[in-house]
Amino acid sequence: MQLTLTELQEQLQQWNGCALAEHANPVLGEGDPHARVMFIGEAPGKKEDELKRPFVGPAGKLLDELLQSIGLKRNEVYISNVVKYRPPDNRDPTDEEKQQCMPWLQLEIAIIQPEIIVPLGRHALGHFLPRLGMTAAHGKPHVLAPQQDDAKSITIFPIYHPAAALHNGNLRQTLFDDFAALKQFLDSHSPLPTPDSQSSS
Ligand code: URA
Repeated sequence: MQLTLTELQEQLQQWNGCALAEHANPVLGEGDPHARVMFIGEAPGKKEDELKRPFVGPAGKLLDELLQSIGLKRNEVYISNVVKYRPPDNRDPTDEEKQQCMPWLQLEIAIIQPEIIVPLGRHALGHFLPRLGMTAAHGKPHVLAPQQDDAKSITIFPIYHPAAALHNGNLRQTLFDDFAALKQFLDSHSPLPTPDSQSSS
């Protein structure tokens, strides 16, 4: 049976499959469990570790601005990370840490079933499109074939990590442009109304 996000959160508290857990709090994703779009960053930072929530520090503030620029609120999307614990001194997560934490992200994706996954930065991109670098891949849709017969295709829409624009001001406009392209993609692929949504309007 499918777990709920609350159950997943409870299970993550008990988990000790990644050494980072010895010195950091678990940070699962958050947002709309029925979101069309799921944003996936790298790993929690200092503020995220303190508050046990993803993207609530400086990079999160810019992510909020970017979402707002296309008329979206945090609670209308789902926001998560590849790695569920803050690496010490904000170093990059290792391949081993990414692999160890990956089942949690896969469970989140199975629950949310997003139409579009936005890898924010190269660590998340590397999982979904391992042959592509961010320079070539960002700001456009890449359709992944379904993994199983009954699964739907999923669109990967890579965007630079917001923290990159905090270090390199030139990237700021690129980020806003890529979010505008994401909005255009979302608008041109609006889901068809379901019988439920028709009868309730
Ligand atoms: N950077 C990330 O990749 N994730 C966060 O949650 C915060 C900063």
